[in-house]
Amino acid sequence: MTSSGESLVAASKNAQTNASVNQSRRLDMQGSIEKRGGIGIVWIDNPPVNAISQAVREGLISAVESAAADDEIQALVLACRGRTFMAGADITEFGGGPKPPSLGEVVDALSASPKVIVAALFGTTFGGGMEVALACNYRIALPSAKIGLPEVKLGIIPGAQGTQRLPRLTGVDFALKMITTGNPIEAAEALESGAIDRIEDGDIVAAAISYAEELVAADAPLKRTHELTLDPAQFNDECFDAFRTSIARRTRGMHAPERAIQAVKAAVNLPFTDGVKRERELIRECVADPQSKALQHVFFAEREATKVPGLSRDVELKPVNSVGIIGAGTMGGGIAMNFINVGIPVTLLEMSEEALEKGRGIIRKNYEASARKGRISDEQVEERMNLISGTTNYADLADADLVIEAVFENMDVKKTVFSTLSEVVRPDAILASNTSYLDINEIATVVANPERFLGMHFFSPANVMRLLEIVRGEKTAPEVLATILKLGKRINKVGAVAGVCYGFIGNRMLSGYAHEANMLVLEGATPEQVDRVLYDFGMPMGVIAMADMAGLDIGTRMRENLDESQYDVRASYLYDRLVGMGRLGQKTNAGVYDYEPGNRTPIPSPITKEIIAESAEKFGIEQREISDEEIIERCFYSLFNIGCDLLNEGMAYRASDIDTVYINGYGFPAWRGGPMHWAENTIGLERILERIREFAKLHGERWWTPSPLLVRLVAEGGSLRDIKNQ
Ligand code: NAI
Repeated sequence: MTSSGESLVAASKNAQTNASVNQSRRLDMQGSIEKRGGIGIVWIDNPPVNAISQAVREGLISAVESAAADDEIQALVLACRGRTFMAGADITEFGGGPKPPSLGEVVDALSASPKVIVAALFGTTFGGGMEVALACNYRIALPSAKIGLPEVKLGIIPGAQGTQRLPRLTGVDFALKMITTGNPIEAAEALESGAIDRIEDGDIVAAAISYAEELVAADAPLKRTHELTLDPAQFNDECFDAFRTSIARRTRGMHAPERAIQAVKAAVNLPFTDGVKRERELIRECVADPQSKALQHVFFAEREATKVPGLSRDVELKPVNSVGIIGAGTMGGGIAMNFINVGIPVTLLEMSEEALEKGRGIIRKNYEASARKGRISDEQVEERMNLISGTTNYADLADADLVIEAVFENMDVKKTVFSTLSEVVRPDAILASNTSYLDINEIATVVANPERFLGMHFFSPANVMRLLEIVRGEKTAPEVLATILKLGKRINKVGAVAGVCYGFIGNRMLSGYAHEANMLVLEGATPEQVDRVLYDFGMPMGVIAMADMAGLDIGTRMRENLDESQYDVRASYLYDRLVGMGRLGQKTNAGVYDYEPGNRTPIPSPITKEIIAESAEKFGIEQREISDEEIIERCFYSLFNIGCDLLNEGMAYRASDIDTVYINGYGFPAWRGGPMHWAENTIGLERILERIREFAKLHGERWWTPSPLLVRLVAEGGSLRDIKNQ
């Protein structure tokens, strides 16, 4: 989630710790207005982010009331102390429902003010803060200010008239985009759209006072947002339909964006007060929708995931100002970009100059593509490229604060890398492996000072996927873990900590999920049916198409290191046969599916069909019709069951960490709350256990032994929420 999330959390912390302060502040706030000439300044002071708590709401209403009755006051400025204008609702009021007065009453009071109100925006004016600003008559902002309505990210829509006021100021398209993405915008864009009226640098409160004086002197109209109207002929159904189509892919499965569209439509077609009623109905629908609970769960889960039980907050973090990366292949290059993007210089180490050049070339191409899309400037491309140096000599990593290894997935290769590395780096430099599956504790045996070693598992494409799975080795020191957790935030990743086991959290779960998908194909489902069902469930793509994308040879190579007791030959037979035929996936335009050159759309392949029939016969499996429901159950109950095993073994601290991993690393739909939340809240533990037992009878216990944790929770009537590993 965006920085808006940060603000919401900060708000909740504040509300928890400052209850008594709030009490006294409430008294201060009531009617307290600082007068400067004819301008009254209403100060909000609710650190750290001026969350709109009950005290703030009460204070705002009484300030507007007393200003109305005070003849000395000609206009008001709404100002905040601290580092930001009001950054959002007070999240501690979530669930229990806000205490009166409501934010709706606050915006009503502000918009009914007989005196001009200027809102002085800086920092992050988000959510309810934005709705307060929209109810004022004029808005002035610092150039660095950001504004946003992030509610949709929590499965809801703005509920204090924001959906009715914003389009009246900016027109429909802009408002729709802002409300349905939930992403913040910069002050300059806000000015251009009409969401704010002026930008000024320096002391924003002083600038707001001058602005208010100017408005008074000019006898400027009150400019009440709710009195503006939108032309239904201009913003007709076609315009809404076109917008709906434009976001369909991005918002697939989500309900809140459609409700936001309905609300904005009401702003066009209904008088203001009726539009507000419609907004209220829609927000009620959002709140009652399990999606909002799921998204709120995800919001808290991501924050919780970076808290490690027993890890003291006081542990001293190590500075990370330079990074070495070994291996500039698919992962190494993407990992490097994360650091360069935040200004941390990177030294790439490869086996040859050619490999280095290739790696650097891919990074450059990526940045140039971003520049073409206008996301960064041409100068930024050069600045970023200048932060990378390349080498084939380990001695050049001698000063690195952190070195991440991303070489081939092979234990011997990795051990050689780390023993060489141990000889050249500083004894306190942090060392990390990006291994997908290998035993971090075994690699640690060749690392001098193994307490500075851990796994940093990025996901492909590493510059895009938000997850950083941090693998805590037996010997990893607390300060090393804490440093990497903090660093994860700095490079805009969502961190989650895993213990050492085959595949850690994400890939271990993936193995069960993929196994079931493959078995279902053997039992009679087509690959396209399995992929369609998984896609329709909300996954970004089906797991079989994903294998084609990653390259089928990766799995085949991996199995070469395993003996047959470690995997299911039946499930991998198709892949190994295809690899044997040179069908490696998208990269050869043929894998499980066929591909037109340059096109990634999978086309069912007759060859695959033939091999499937042949393998079913080979393994004595009678093919049958498979229902879509069975595909969901088999794939996701297996995923869930392994998640329970991970919790049971202490490989994950909490179920919500597993949700964080699966959403951010594998694209599990956030609106379902992650696989663990979904399983418990949408399906129910008892039902899943019952089905797992049935699957065990039909398909054998090897893949379908219910996790002891699941059995225990069902027997005791417990919940995953109560499992907190140390
Ligand atoms: P890759 O084959 O694209 O890149 C590996 C690079 O390492 C190559 O450029 C190779 O020249 C270089 N290399 C090999 N041995 C080296 C050595 N001794 N010294 C210096 N450079 C060396 O492989 P990829 O996909 O980037 O994977 C790297 C690691 O990341 C593996 O451990 C893999 O399991 C893991 N990983 C891969 C993901 C993926 O989706 N590709 C996702 C997450 C982790």
